[in-house]
Parts: sequence; structure tokens; C-alpha cells
Amino acid sequence: YDNLGVNDQGHLTVGGLDTVALAEEFGAPLYVLDEDQVRANCRTYRQAMAEWMPGGSLPLFAGKALCFKGLYPVLEEEGMGADVVSPGEIYTALAGGFPAEKLYFHGNNKTDEDIAYALDCGVGCFIVDNHQELERLEQAAGARSHRQRVLLRVTPGIDPHTLQAINTGRIDCQFGVPIETGQAAQFVADALSRPHLQVEGFHSHIGSQIFEAAPFCDAVDILLDFAHAMRQAHGFVARTLNLGGGFGVRYRESDPTVDIPGNIRALADHLRRGCETKGYPMPRVLLEPGRSIVANAGLTLYRVGGVKTIAGYRSYVTVNGGMTDNPRYALYQAPYTVLPASRMGETRDFLCTVAGRCCESGDLIQEKVSLPQPARDDLLAVLTTGAYNFTMASNYNRLCRPALVMVRGGKARLAVRRQTFADLVACDL
Ligand code: LLP
Repeated sequence: YDNLGVNDQGHLTVGGLDTVALAEEFGAPLYVLDEDQVRANCRTYRQAMAEWMPGGSLPLFAGKALCFKGLYPVLEEEGMGADVVSPGEIYTALAGGFPAEKLYFHGNNKTDEDIAYALDCGVGCFIVDNHQELERLEQAAGARSHRQRVLLRVTPGIDPHTLQAINTGRIDCQFGVPIETGQAAQFVADALSRPHLQVEGFHSHIGSQIFEAAPFCDAVDILLDFAHAMRQAHGFVARTLNLGGGFGVRYRESDPTVDIPGNIRALADHLRRGCETKGYPMPRVLLEPGRSIVANAGLTLYRVGGVKTIAGYRSYVTVNGGMTDNPRYALYQAPYTVLPASRMGETRDFLCTVAGRCCESGDLIQEKVSLPQPARDDLLAVLTTGAYNFTMASNYNRLCRPALVMVRGGKARLAVRRQTFADLVACDL
């Protein structure tokens, strides 16, 4: 984590700012996002894709990982496209000034209202998930005398050996149309017959937290065979291949390091060789990284409430947040690194479980954490929380969602304010 440090007072710093001072100014729990790190992560993808892949290749930031207005100007300045999965994400991106043209609209059940909204907003490309969506999109685009750019989502049936719950590339799943069963070929024939759809190519997503290029290369092999067969059958040439999201991130020091530029180069080389072998024109490539753009740019600050030692068992350190702001341990037993942000210089010889404040025994942030013997009001930092924390937060137990602060060039600014009790009842009639 090159954006983290420790200052003279033994406080953890992020982007050069004292986390204790941040918590004093903005309160805790607090999401902190290092904008410089987000920008650096965008550039890693942009530069590697520009260098190794054909013109027009582009990373699309997956908004499911993190989505609020103030992020979108940053993404735009960094030349990213964006993957959106709901009208709410479209609305947020547009409210942040992001061009509709660079939005790629996902979703396995886009309602008629979603389709109409996205068309009326001028969303650049739909990633069509299924036959019913094709039909409805054709009608809605036709009613507007519009020809909509689309990619067709197919499932290559790759198991990248990631968590079952976040594995979306297998054949047996609710996303896309499987190649192996022959259904994807019908899907393409159907799409090509629609006058108001302009089919640009294919999309596949094989999973999340993938550390190497190999599973993507396997997907490319299957997609190229399929594209080749579709060319023979229909004379259709895919100009775009969207390979889905994104490379994995390190949540703990024991996790493997990820060479994103190296992986992108390996993937590009593999694709180029495959295209040469088949005499297929090299398509432009889209990737949809979410986690690897924002995860390591974020951390969450919590205030310690106290310590409870269950004699003969273990010690719980309670914090003033929990599964409401970070449900990932409760859902996936996701690993995290927890640091004593206000006492970084001290020996960490107290083994404990960090628990949240919800009325639910599963509300843990992490187990087997080593801290200095904690005291009430200590500040803890949970690292690598930039992805799938803010976006997966809830108001369970009527807890207010934390504020989000963006840090850039040694300055902090509030990007999302903390919820108030009034927000909690805002929709209640
Ligand atoms: N594109 C598609 C079609 C996806 O389904 C996903 C993630 C992405 C892109 C972004 O993948 P990434 O680069 O972030 O790995 N809530 C889970 C993660 C679910 C991911 C689902 N799809 C978690 O907290 O780990």
C-alpha cells in the first residue's frame, strides 16, 4: 500500500493525511477514498490496453464496485468508460456529468422502464442478456426510430476457481446465453435479424478476484471459436470483445500480487495469436474492472467501543459500524487487514475478533486480528474497502450510512455526507 504511512504521532496516514484527524473532522465510521490511487489504477488499465490492444480498446469501470456522483468526473478525466447495471447507476453517472455515450448497460432483467430510461438517456451500448430483452429493446428502439448499439452476453462456461457465490461464467447461471448448448448461436441469429439493433460483438464475464490472465485466455479461445462460427454462418464479424471484470486485488499481505499490465499484455498476445490462426480481424477489447480500480484506494475508519473477553474463548473488540457499512465478512468471510490507526507504533500482541454493532452474531468485520490491547475511542482502519463496501451498505438496525471522503494531493473533501435520522425516515409515509 504505497498510499499509506505512519506519522510522528504514530497515526496511520492515507494519501499524506492523518486518519485520526480525518475521523475528528468528518466523524466515524468513515469511508476514505484516495483519489490519486483511483487515478493511478485507471491509468494502469488505460496505458496497458492502449499499448497492447487495438485502437478503441477501453476499460469500463464497473459501478457496482463503487458508485456516487463525485467519482464519475474522475473516471471521465481518466478516459474510462463505465459499466452500469441499473437505472440508478445510470442516473448517478449522468448526475456526475459522465457522457451517456460511454455507458455500457448491463443487467439480466432490464425492465421495460429500464430500457426506455436508458434509451432516452442515450446510453451508448446495451449488453443484451437474453432473447426477451432483444425483443423488447428492438421494439423500444424502433418506437424511437433509433438503432441501438449492442453487445450480446454469452457464457463460455469457464470456472476460474473463484468463490462460487461470485462466479458468473459457468454455464449454469442466470446471466447471458450459453455457447455450449447451442443457444448462443440462436441468440446471435435473432439479434442480427433486428433492424434497430446494431450488433457490435460479444460480452462474457467469467468471474471476479482472478489473479492471472490464463482464465481470460481460455474464455478468449471459446469466444473466438464462437465468433468464427458466427462469421461462417452469418457473415457477421465481431468488432468488439468485452471480456468482463477485472483482475483481483490483495486484501492481505499473504494474497498473491497481481501484475495487471503483464496480464493485459498476455491476454492481448493470446487474442492476437488466436485471431491470426483463424484469419479473424482483431477486435477491440473492453474490460470491466471494478474492484481493481477502487478497492485498494479505500479504507474504513471505525471508533472502538470496548473490549469483551469471553473467558476461555476469545476477545471481541466492538466498533461503531459493521455489516451495515461492510457486509463482506458476514457474506463471504472476506479477508481484510485491520490496523490500529491511532496507535501504529505499539506492539500488536492482542488477538481479537473485530465485531460490529448490529444485533446479529454474524456481524463481524474480521477474526484473528492482532492489535495493541485496545481501549475505548481507539481508531481502527480496515484496509482495501474501496470496492463493494459503500455500494453494498444497508440501513439494517436503522444505522445511518457513513460519510465518504475523497483525498487528493494532501487535501480531503466530503463527497457523500453522512446520513441523518431524517434520511432514515425520508421515504416513510
Ligand atoms: N462486469 C460484470 C458483468 C460483473 O458481473 C462484474 C462483477 C464486474 C464486471 C466487475 O468485476 P470486478 O472487476 O469488480 O471483479 N459483491 C462481490 C462481487 C460481485 C461481483 C459481481 N460481478 C464482492 O463483494 O466480492
